Amino acid sequence: MVFDYIDGAAGYGLGDELNQQAIREMRLQTRILIDVENRSIKKSIFGMDCRLPFGISPMGMCNLSCPGADLILARFAAEHNIPIGASTAASTSLESIGKAAGGNAWFQLYFGGDEDVCDELINRAEQAGYDTLIFTVDVPEVGRRPRELRHGFKMPFKIGPRQFLDFALHPQWSINSLRSGAPQLANFDGTNSAFDRTRSRAGVSWAYLDRIRKRWKGKLVVKGVLHAGDAKRLVEHGVDGIQVSSHGGRQLDSVQCAILALANIRNAIGEDVPLIYDSGIRTGEDICKAYALGADFVMLGRPLLFAMAAGGEKGLHQLGDVIAQETSIALAQMGLNDINQLDSTVLL
Ligand SMILES: Cc1cc2nc3c(=O)[nH]c(=O)nc-3n(C[C@H](O)[C@H](O)[C@H](O)COP(=O)(O)O)c2cc1C
Repeated sequence: MVFDYIDGAAGYGLGDELNQQAIREMRLQTRILIDVENRSIKKSIFGMDCRLPFGISPMGMCNLSCPGADLILARFAAEHNIPIGASTAASTSLESIGKAAGGNAWFQLYFGGDEDVCDELINRAEQAGYDTLIFTVDVPEVGRRPRELRHGFKMPFKIGPRQFLDFALHPQWSINSLRSGAPQLANFDGTNSAFDRTRSRAGVSWAYLDRIRKRWKGKLVVKGVLHAGDAKRLVEHGVDGIQVSSHGGRQLDSVQCAILALANIRNAIGEDVPLIYDSGIRTGEDICKAYALGADFVMLGRPLLFAMAAGGEKGLHQLGDVIAQETSIALAQMGLNDINQLDSTVLL
């Protein structure tokens, strides 16, 4: 059930699959006899000098992947000075994630249907010292994910006979999780009305974005953008960054390829507005392609959870090392010394 929650997507999973395929099919131009002995894979975003070329996209209920996953990710973000999205639906409170991430956490807001609950979350994020808010807007209704439905996956976590059998068949996960307690929606620990992940957010409008823009004094990133016209309008409404994303194909099976939308949006809005990209990035070469298509920063989702599910904190560090190495090798092959030199000329 947990694997299907993390790995799953809307419908047949084609939105996720076709995007990954589109990224994989892109070819990179190699160059020869250029001294590429000293290479840098450092990127910066909103004044943060990141030691890795990717950040951590916001994900709910990460502790399902392994106990303490949110804090493992937060420590990783602090160590490498990279951003981590702390989800509204996180399994660790935004205060604890913010503290462990040492100022690198960005709070991700879902409008849960109640403006007071959102205001309270924004107040808490502000008090906890967050300076960047990611407002996710690509979930007007939660996508139907058959793999989750099949198992009766619910948040808050519910254990019925079916789940009990599933846990019995995965004793290692179950014993570890039992020891540390079943993951909860930690931002809603009895202090405010419960968050319903499946609740409609269809009422969220441009007017609500304006309300948030007025309220939030820090950086505001809008996540889940695929239409160039929407991106232009977001700039007019004063956002500081746009996260181009198809939510890893978790919302709409027939969704367009996010990686192609990235290039369109970059062309439409010019060079000045920071574009963050996520969806379908699996390797260092994928990261290079997203930067070549105009991203200012790249975020990863599922691979981080898989790394922790397989190897805990050590697994996450191993993944970080592999991706850093792959990125650096790809730069060498392209005859580049610095990841910031990537542009459309490397794409065939
Ligand atoms: C288990 C899981 C939970 C997620 N929860 C959230 C969330 O709470 N808020 C949000 O904005 N995006 C959420 N996302 C989407 C990610 O931020 C990101 O857009 C997506 O995972 C990127 O695609 P990738 O998994 O192919 O890298 C979630 C993704 C996964 C896999």
